[in-house]
Parts: sequence; structure tokens; C-alpha cells
Amino acid sequence: MNKKVVKPGIYSVGVVDWNLRSFHGYSIHKGTTYNAYLIMDEKIALIDTVKAPFAEELLDRISAIVDPAKIDYVISNHVEMDHSGSIPAVMNAAKNAELITSAPNGIKGLTAHYGADYPYREVKAGDTISLGKRTLTFIGTPMLHWPDNMITYCPEEKILFSNDAFGQHYTSNYIFDDEIDLPTALYDAQGYYANILMPFGSQVKKAISAVEGLDIEIIAPSHGILWRSHWKDIVEKYRQFSGEETEDTALVIYDTMWHSTEKMARRVAEGFDKRGTKVLLYDLSVCDLSDIMTEMVTARYVAVGCPTLDNQITPRTGALLTYMKGLGPKGKKGFAFGSYGWGGQSIDIVNKELLAIGVEIVLDPMKIKYIPSKEQLEEIENKVASI
Ligand SMILES: [Fe+2]
Ligand SMILES: [Fe+2]
Repeated sequence: MNKKVVKPGIYSVGVVDWNLRSFHGYSIHKGTTYNAYLIMDEKIALIDTVKAPFAEELLDRISAIVDPAKIDYVISNHVEMDHSGSIPAVMNAAKNAELITSAPNGIKGLTAHYGADYPYREVKAGDTISLGKRTLTFIGTPMLHWPDNMITYCPEEKILFSNDAFGQHYTSNYIFDDEIDLPTALYDAQGYYANILMPFGSQVKKAISAVEGLDIEIIAPSHGILWRSHWKDIVEKYRQFSGEETEDTALVIYDTMWHSTEKMARRVAEGFDKRGTKVLLYDLSVCDLSDIMTEMVTARYVAVGCPTLDNQITPRTGALLTYMKGLGPKGKKGFAFGSYGWGGQSIDIVNKELLAIGVEIVLDPMKIKYIPSKEQLEEIENKVASI
């Protein structure tokens, strides 16, 4: 097996899951990787493992470098099973290894998943272990994005093993940011942030502060490529995402039954265009919620259109608003619109839900009975243009 060298004596031994298209419901387009890192020193450390079905490949990759039985420390930065799933197989092969996890939530999580019988060693933020020439320091990043999360820093090598932070669902047989298509990786990092980390902006800000105090050459996350030539770019992106800085972009998202709400949506988009705003138009019957949320990280405006179906919003609009409520995008301005036949409740429901999500409402709900007239569509466009 081709050894992936991060730096002399440090190897990337994780696996590429090329064909994954749903990451616990978050749809992805290129698969992902589960990164694990082997550090060869007087003591041998493995940082994180991989999803359980790939345990054998992980052990094969380690075996190409060293007998797994010689591993001294297995470090679990995060209990979630994409990184801990192979702990039973690794601990079975590394009979003398200590299993290092954060106190108190790492031990609670690993015990719940894999039992209490492993030689656990709990570490707190600031604790250090020596591998010989190198040391590893643990930095707590709780709720980024589980209670147990920590990241591991090696000062001698200037490598930050950042786990999910700064990760992307990007697949390649290459491992570094300067070997692949950088804009795509940065965009995939935005998608990762949107769909996984968006609810935890304040914790992200704390992590950025912690990173700023470190001397860094490489950020090695647990998904996707490693940031070497462009690590400052991804930190800057995270600063923008967590700082809720928006761009002059509008997302016009709609569901439609007989195309009336669609006609309104297209004129809403025209209105934004008239004011010089970048517009993205999404039909919920064909567009993916995860892709919409990726754009929502930086968008300033969110307009949601929904016809009334049985006195309610449509199920697809419900899914959008539920997902938005959970992820909690900040700093958005928006409004509701839609057509109806008799009840017309959906538009007010969307308006209320946008308010509950924290969207600043910049236009009153726009409702049109049955079919929008030419004049009504003109009025919609003008209202949006004058926001
Ligand atoms: Fe995770
Ligand atoms: Fe992960």
C-alpha cells in the first residue's frame, strides 16, 4: 500500500469512502474520507480511527508501516462513529495500547459505545503526553460538534490534528490542499460547516482563538484533505462563517403545485436582480436541502415561497424550515410568499417559522389567490427591488 507521508515519521493511514452519498442524512456528492494519523516515535500513537466497515483497511495501512501490536497510544479526539468505529478492531490488534479520550465526556461516550473494559486514559484540556522526540497536547473543543470533542496539537511538528473542524467531504488519493482543486475543497468545507457545524458558531470562534495561539504548518482534519499551503485560508473561511458575515446574495426557495408560487418566485428573483443582488433560485421538488444550506452560510436574504396545501405548508417546505431551525443560520433577512386557493394559511406559517428561526422579516407576507396577474407579479418584483 502506498504510504501517505504527512511529515517524516507521520503518516495518514485513514481510508477513502468514495461512494458515500448520505452522511447521516446530509447529502454529499463526492464521498468522504475518515482520516487517521500514525506517529512513529519512541512511543507510537494513532490519532483517531475510521468507520467500522473500513477497520481492516486501516489495520492494513498501519501494518505497511509498523506492526499494530506496537502502538502505545490510541487517541480518540471524537466519539462519533465515523472516527471511533474501528476502536474495537484497533484495540484488539494493539493489545498494549492505552485509549486516550477527553474527560469527562469522551470516556462517557466511548464507554456507552464500546464498553468499559478498555485501558482508558482520560485527558483534560492542556494535558500533554510525550512520545519521545515529540509531544502531543490536547485542546478541548466541546460541542464542536459533540460534548466530547478535543483536538490534538504536536508543537515539534507544528501539526494540528483538528478532527471534524476544518474538514470537508472531499475525496482524493492525494492528501494535501496543494495537490488538488483548492476552490472545490474550500467550497466542500463550507458545505461541511453548513450542515454539521453551523449551530455551534460560538464554539467555532473559541476554536479559532485557540488555533491563533499555535505555531502551525499543517492542519490535519478527520475528513478530506490536509491544509498545508492554504491553512490560513480555511481558518479565515471559518472566521467568516462563524462571524455571520453575509454577502449580497439571495436564496429564493419555493415549492409549487400548479406553478403560481413558482411564477411568484421567479419575479422575487427578478426583484433581487434589479437591485444588483446575486440570486439563487431553488425548487424544493428537485433541489437538495444540504446544497441550499451550503449557500445559506454566506447568503444575506432568504425568501421562502409555499402554496397552501390542506390548510398547511407543503411537506417539502416543512422539511426545509425544520432543517433551517435546527442549523440556525444567523444574520439573515427574509420574507414569505405563495399562492393559495381558499385558506391561504401556508404563507403566514412560513412567515412565523422564519421569525422563529431568527430571520429578520423585511417584507410582509405576499399572498396571491389562485393565479398571479401580470400587475401582481410586477408589484412583487418592485417590492423586492426596493428592500
Ligand atoms: Fe463528528
Ligand atoms: Fe467526522
